[in-house]
Amino acid sequence: MSESDKEKQKIYYPLPELAENARIKSMDQYREMWKKSVENPREFWAEEAKMVDWFEPYKEVWTGSTPEDFVGKWFVGGKLNVCYNCVDRWVEKGYGDAKSLIWMGEDDTLKEFTFSELKDAVSKTANALKSLGIKKGDRVCLWLPMVSELAITMLACARIGAIHSIVFGGFSAESVKDRIDDSQCKVLVVADQVMRAGRPRPMKDNLKGIIETCPSIEHVAVVKVTGDENVYKYEKDVDFTALVAEQSTECPCEPMDAEDPLFILYTSGTTGKPKGVVHTTAGYLVYGMSTNKYVWDYSCLIDLKGDTVEGRDVWYCTADIGWITGHTQIIYSPLALGAKTVMYEGVPTWPHKGRFWEICEKLGVTHFYTAPTAIRALMKYGEEPVNKFDLSKLKMLGTVGEVCNWPEWKWYWEVVGKGTTGEKPVGRPIVDSYWQTETGSYMMVNLGAITPMKPGSCTFPFFGINPVLLDEDGNKVTKSMTQAYFAYDMPWPGLMRTVWGDHERFVKTYLTKFPGHYFTGDYAQIDDDGYYFILGRSDDVIKVSGHRLGSAEVEAAINSHEAVAESAVCPYPHPVKGSTIFAYVTLMTGVEPTEELKKEIQKHVRTTAGPAVYPEIIMFSDALPKTRSGKIMRRVLKAIATQSDIGNTMTLANPEVVQHLIDERKKLGEIKF
Ligand code: WT7
Repeated sequence: MSESDKEKQKIYYPLPELAENARIKSMDQYREMWKKSVENPREFWAEEAKMVDWFEPYKEVWTGSTPEDFVGKWFVGGKLNVCYNCVDRWVEKGYGDAKSLIWMGEDDTLKEFTFSELKDAVSKTANALKSLGIKKGDRVCLWLPMVSELAITMLACARIGAIHSIVFGGFSAESVKDRIDDSQCKVLVVADQVMRAGRPRPMKDNLKGIIETCPSIEHVAVVKVTGDENVYKYEKDVDFTALVAEQSTECPCEPMDAEDPLFILYTSGTTGKPKGVVHTTAGYLVYGMSTNKYVWDYSCLIDLKGDTVEGRDVWYCTADIGWITGHTQIIYSPLALGAKTVMYEGVPTWPHKGRFWEICEKLGVTHFYTAPTAIRALMKYGEEPVNKFDLSKLKMLGTVGEVCNWPEWKWYWEVVGKGTTGEKPVGRPIVDSYWQTETGSYMMVNLGAITPMKPGSCTFPFFGINPVLLDEDGNKVTKSMTQAYFAYDMPWPGLMRTVWGDHERFVKTYLTKFPGHYFTGDYAQIDDDGYYFILGRSDDVIKVSGHRLGSAEVEAAINSHEAVAESAVCPYPHPVKGSTIFAYVTLMTGVEPTEELKKEIQKHVRTTAGPAVYPEIIMFSDALPKTRSGKIMRRVLKAIATQSDIGNTMTLANPEVVQHLIDERKKLGEIKF
């Protein structure tokens, strides 16, 4: 075994002082609590639900009848408001002057909202939405960069019971349209422009010609980010910044039913159309709070753990709010716990490579949560940009989105966390949180203060979560280090309830492959010590920089180019992004396969699907390997792209194309990034 392999297989321990004042102090205590939580989930979740301030108490914790009933309802009969729990209640309890959301701009502008200020800002925005005719249950689409108005508008929606559907800024205007149409949004809130690396870039301009084709939209509410007068104007435009400014700060919180939808968030699946994942009010809130409280163990207004109000820990999650991570881990869970939460407008590498660490120093960040892809991007620049800043306040680090592999894990541990190596390495824990848009918050995760870590492992289940490894026939796989399908055998409050407008699709996608289980779509394995390792997707979902892209969606964008007859995409290993997209493209008869055309197709995909969707490698091919039923064999495509063993091709209808593709792939040579 090499030195590095030995290091990788060691157990890493959190700094012992973290356990002293922790909410859960030992692994024995965790195991005992976990056992109780899965044996009697109703009791466990009833206890957790006490963290919420209810307008009316719920009557039943969970209405399911059997443990495997995933469509049961949670906290039925209860009335509450998520915005009230995140904002108002802290003011009412006398913490109006305590800091809540700390927003920092690219140009270093700081907006440190106290809970009172946040309440006023949210109330004004909520009144502005009401003045545009938005009522409880209406859908509002938010397409905004990481400006503070995004955080405030989502809370404003929650306040009046409107359902927000946030679209990531890196998606295209076309994808905004698809999402607006699917959930029939009445208002679109959009920025005039977006600041990126010091320069204004178009945002609203991209909607030209597209927003006109969204019949459900009654108003386009424009947030003035740069105030540029030359951006594209539309007859349904409203100057939202001005409208908000003239509103009153009085706006009551709408009492919502526990199971009322809080938001819709679209995520890619295996078919072309993204799914509108629906999260509810009470279950989502309770689950997010519970996971964050136990995993990160930060001091917050729910439990100051001996800190003063001002001395509370500082939480910084670097995700974009356009993804579930931003929803749950920047806004809803930390604010509902009464934490200080940092939101940063910009990218990690501008104006310099140490931007994250500068923010940590400047704002006194104690808990820092990012993605493996960001770590890989920063690792390239070495230790210097990290060492320039004082990171001594940091207590815990974390990752999400994909497996945190050994090289980046080691760098994070040593360079950022200043963890020791040697016989028994000790340091700032790296929380490896495994979850999905669908699950609301963490599913498999270490409790930062106490769980011994194995690099690359998301360790053990959270409370109330019972993971199972299954084979193709649904039998339990218990053998260690054996790849299996990863599923859960009982529901939890944070699980999505439905796919917007298509409940059948929810049942079909998650609950049908293994009846009685929720299937994640991932492969995983377990080792002899019971540590779980996620091995990646078992379906056609590609993870690029930790973001989920559906192959069919990317293919649809490629196919919409007039020169393209057909295409198929697969993941290809990339040093920073984890995977990038490798596209096989068959051209229309008579079209010349040139390098320019490749660039043109790439550009076309960027504009139709958005910069987040980029087929980085294109290979022209005369045909694609298909089964007799016409299904593209992606396993073969992946093997050809990476020039690895192709395996059995007996089931192919056209095995002769394989050799042609192998030859074409050889011509592409080594791929450099
Ligand atoms: C998929 C979900 C939920 C926040 C961000 C991504 C992969 C997520 C981990 C992890 C290994 C991970 C899985 C999962 N994934 N976290 N810690 N280790 N894989 O949300 O876009 O819904 O993607 O991300 O494949 O199914 P998402």
